[in-house]
Amino acid sequence: MKPKIKIYKDLQELSAAAARLFIENATQAIATRGRFLTALSGGGTPKPLYELLAQAPYRSQIRWDKVHVFWGDERCVPKEDPGNNYFQARQALLDHVPLPAENIHPVASELEPESAARDYAQVLRDFSTPPLTFPRFDLVLLGMGDDGHTASLFPNSPVDESLPVISVTANYQDRPARRVSLTPLVFNAAKQVIFIAVGKSKAERLASILNGDYHPALLPAQRIRPDEGEVLWLVDEAAAEMITSS
Ligand code: 6PG
Repeated sequence: MKPKIKIYKDLQELSAAAARLFIENATQAIATRGRFLTALSGGGTPKPLYELLAQAPYRSQIRWDKVHVFWGDERCVPKEDPGNNYFQARQALLDHVPLPAENIHPVASELEPESAARDYAQVLRDFSTPPLTFPRFDLVLLGMGDDGHTASLFPNSPVDESLPVISVTANYQDRPARRVSLTPLVFNAAKQVIFIAVGKSKAERLASILNGDYHPALLPAQRIRPDEGEVLWLVDEAAAEMITSS
């Protein structure tokens, strides 16, 4: 299925739209399956979204006791490190909503990446939908780096797509290099994937991902093509500058 694209004036408008979509997905999943399984993204872009979900009018529109939160990727630093994706989500969202502690499923980021990946595969297995060995997420939130990476799937970095979780070492900006990432095996089983990307620095790669040829080794975000789910890109005008409508 072709990805859908929605363009917003700025990150503020985009985040409000993403908050509404988060609530819609949660409401529908809880009504039909009794729970909402979501995988969050790291990076700076989702922070305003997380903050909005923690505030009125959004916060009270979600049955938080039915929500289970996972991460699409994590940096292997202690859980109190500002570079930790779980820490960021706690500060912006999780500490401010009535989400039971047992519904929060962080990566054991204090471990070595290989051990943390193995451990997280077991965490996912506990929520698996047989015959899969991992959950079919209701909503996966993803970002995109200036180089086309998503989660911790980086250009020219091998991905064993037979595994649900891999360990990765990748230098990007000044962020921690040792990481754990879910793989396309898991992302492509999701019901809904929402990418959020803003800023001019992403414009060129975004156009290549959406309008260019399929080069997954160079543009890992292209690997995200759910079999039965939908991919939606929420982007701002600056990031969308080079996209063509065809
Ligand atoms: C991470 C991410 C990563 C992120 C992109 C975009 O933990 O680093 O999950 O894939 O989404 O690097 O980051 P920004 O939102 O900061 O541009």
